[in-house]
Amino acid sequence: MEREENQITVRDAKFRDVNAILRILNDDILFADHTLDTRAWTKTQGMMWFMRHDPETYPVFVAEIGGEVVGYAAINPYRSALGFERIAENSIYVDTRFRRRGVATKLVSHLLNEARQRGYRIIMATVIQGNQASIRLHERLGYERMSTLIRGGQRGGEPVDLVLLKRVL
Ligand SMILES: CC(C)(COP(=O)(O)OP(=O)(O)OC[C@H]1O[C@@H](n2cnc3c(N)ncnc32)[C@H](O)[C@@H]1OP(=O)(O)O)[C@@H](O)C(=O)NCCC(=O)NCCS
Repeated sequence: MEREENQITVRDAKFRDVNAILRILNDDILFADHTLDTRAWTKTQGMMWFMRHDPETYPVFVAEIGGEVVGYAAINPYRSALGFERIAENSIYVDTRFRRRGVATKLVSHLLNEARQRGYRIIMATVIQGNQASIRLHERLGYERMSTLIRGGQRGGEPVDLVLLKRVL
């Protein structure tokens, strides 16, 4: 039988994928605690976010299994000053029903290749302390843990520690 990992395809996200992206993100915002957002994104917020992701510089990728979008990853701006143009930050979300099947590994590996081709030197990841799945995923893909920003973020009014990781390309 074909290995499941081979059934996962990754492609550039299209505007029509915004609904699927929002479904996956909002599920995490509302029912888990991996993001600093606590309010579901509206369709308008999702469309604006997607439109700010120029495929030349800040692409978004989706993973599909059997034609269904099951996860996404994005290259996001890090800082606006010109001197930061070779650093970006990634985000990655996988539908709860399709986790632990290699979807994120495939998406982030693809994202790193695309980032390298676009001339990025460093990809950052900021992960809420305690999100072991994300920390392990990133470390397995060569990200190094740099430091922890103690009480660096807020979630529902409560301070949370943030783990900063970097992947040098
Ligand atoms: C983190 C996340 C993206 C991983 O997606 P995934 O498709 O399940 O990851 P993969 O199947 O590619 O797993 C790769 C490796 O990551 C680690 N990992 C993934 N899920 C894990 C878990 N629940 N616990 C511990 N390690 C985990 C493992 O080392 C795994 O390799 P293995 O399965 O061979 O042991 C997914 O759990 C998710 O969407 N979480 C919610 C959103 C989130 O936290 N995003 C990151 C915000 S910074």
